[in-house]
Amino acid sequence: MTLRISRDEDDGQRIFRFADPSCDLAGVIVVDSLALGPATGGCRFWPYDDAAAMLCDARRLARGMSYKNAMAGLPLGGGKSVIRRPEGSFDRAALFAAFGRVLDEIGGDYLAAEDVGTTPADMEAVRAQTPFVFGLPADGALAGGDPSPWTALGVFLSIGHICARRGISLSDSRIAVQGLGNVGADLCRRLHEAGARLVVADLHAHATDRLRADIPVDVVAPEAIHAADVDLFAPCALGGGLNRTTIPEIKARLIAGAANNQLGTGADAALLHARGILYVPDFVANAGGIINVAAEYLGHDRHHVVDAVHRIPDRLADVLDRAEAADISPAHVADAMARDLIARAAGAMAGNEGKRPL
Ligand code: NAI
Repeated sequence: MTLRISRDEDDGQRIFRFADPSCDLAGVIVVDSLALGPATGGCRFWPYDDAAAMLCDARRLARGMSYKNAMAGLPLGGGKSVIRRPEGSFDRAALFAAFGRVLDEIGGDYLAAEDVGTTPADMEAVRAQTPFVFGLPADGALAGGDPSPWTALGVFLSIGHICARRGISLSDSRIAVQGLGNVGADLCRRLHEAGARLVVADLHAHATDRLRADIPVDVVAPEAIHAADVDLFAPCALGGGLNRTTIPEIKARLIAGAANNQLGTGADAALLHARGILYVPDFVANAGGIINVAAEYLGHDRHHVVDAVHRIPDRLADVLDRAEAADISPAHVADAMARDLIARAAGAMAGNEGKRPL
């Protein structure tokens, strides 16, 4: 057995670094908050350059999950795992089995599911080692399976909401989608069915080719998609795409997408607001997947998930109303609302148990 796990704490976050050289496993789990329940968030499998990049990503994503789970009204705290994708060939099943043993050692404070680079089959390899994983193939009418279609549905409904708010009919709209993975491609199909005209980009030609074989889309270069002349820009790739360089070039008046951590920094929310661009906070729009994961964890059925995902636009409307009233970015409003929900839960927990949660 060559599995190593080290534990650390920084700025209220619990950090678990793990490695098992026998199967090329190396990664980080961050538990950001346990105030509302076990820290839950997907497992990202990505070719990180180094350990610092991995840690930075895990910490930001874990904080985002605390906010997302709180705003979705879920009894879950926030956490995230990231695993470095090894170069060259590797034994995928052995790697995810070893990750399952890491989760089992941590003992339920963190619950994993899919994220960028991981699949339901990976989660099955994890489940063979531990109960602390979800996103597994659904059992009968119970919730379960790949969270991506639910994420795409929540983003689609959010887009419908903000377009209606601005008097734009989806059937008359032009929308740019960045990233055509599990969520982005599904979102494109839904938008196409609703009559939207699509401009898309992905780093990989096979992703654009696959979509183009299915529905009509204009393909542009990945470095140009944010600047497309459209009504709405939907970032569905990786985080940090809305920043000081890209924001001045954006022509869309609306932004709503699936990617986690779309804003480079908090200041970028103010930049968008100053330009009159309505930005839907990512963790409000993209909660569909975690709603499905939570339903699987809690033993709810699929109808429950459908209802809960269809309530995303109500929460979004609340955020946007407050932002409009205060003339500030919806991102700042959503952050404050999430922090308040977590602080109240932490306060109640400390009061009940005499303990200070993370
Ligand atoms: P995925 O890995 O299936 O797809 C991501 C796609 O983006 C890939 O096709 C990749 O080639 C492309 N891409 C990466 N960088 C790009 C760039 N600079 N320009 C254009 N394309 C680029 O990932 P998935 O599951 O579709 O997730 C997309 C985003 O949504 C991620 O940020 C993820 O964290 C977030 N998210 C996903 C959820 C889910 O249920 N899968 C839930 C909530 C958030």
